Amino acid sequence: MARTPLIAGNWKMVLDHQQGTLLVQKLDWTLRDARHDYSAVEVAVLPSHTSLRTVQTLIEGDKLSLKLGAQDLSAHTSGAYTGEVSGAQLAKLGVSYVAVGHSERRQYHGENDEVVRAKAAKAVEHGLVPIVCVGEPLEVRKAGEHVGHTVAQALAALEGLQPAQVAALVLAYEPVWAIGTGEVATPEDAQEVCGALRAAIADRFDAATADAVRILYGGSVKPANIASIMRQGDVDGALVGGASTDAGDFAAIVRYRDHPA
Ligand code: 13P
Repeated sequence: MARTPLIAGNWKMVLDHQQGTLLVQKLDWTLRDARHDYSAVEVAVLPSHTSLRTVQTLIEGDKLSLKLGAQDLSAHTSGAYTGEVSGAQLAKLGVSYVAVGHSERRQYHGENDEVVRAKAAKAVEHGLVPIVCVGEPLEVRKAGEHVGHTVAQALAALEGLQPAQVAALVLAYEPVWAIGTGEVATPEDAQEVCGALRAAIADRFDAATADAVRILYGGSVKPANIASIMRQGDVDGALVGGASTDAGDFAAIVRYRDHPA
């Protein structure tokens, strides 16, 4: 089965709603100028919660082909959870994707595999596509245990989901040591883990599910390294942090198929 590549920009806590509006407009113009085929490479932006409504209004009003994503959601359905944002609230705003288990959530907000599993399940329940983030810290990579560590995180997050639900979601392999450090995994490193994740899904679920699930790489993705990463058979796109807050750089990443080999 042909998996449609996805390039998703995680703005983190960087852009406010006005900066986000400018970025989306510039990104749309740039990709429009280049006659970007969104059915060949899907493009999503993940603003802060405070910018979702503004960006959604822009996407809907101007009929842009960009998809909207959120960076997190609550593990709960509704109620007395001050500061939390529910899957239902995101779905009502036209959000398609939601990142769960980003390493910054795991590291700074104590999110463990159980919380990540609950959030992924909530996203699915509300019709959102979770982008389930997994990846090893530097010590684990140095110990040579990155594959086992990452596969275990992924399988824990997917526990309880049906094969068809897993087939429709997105996994993102983001080695923690490559996030925001400028140190990118080699294309072979990315392929090793993305391939192992797909094999583990075939094993736990079935071959058709593994064939359908999209697996992204994330960690210091830039215009200069995206093409070689995307040439790997099990890499179906990228989750881009820093470079996604620059419209020109992000558009260049989206246009990786035009880069010289
Ligand atoms: P950078 O692209 O800034 O390394 O961030 C990657 C990331 O965490 C995307 O979710």
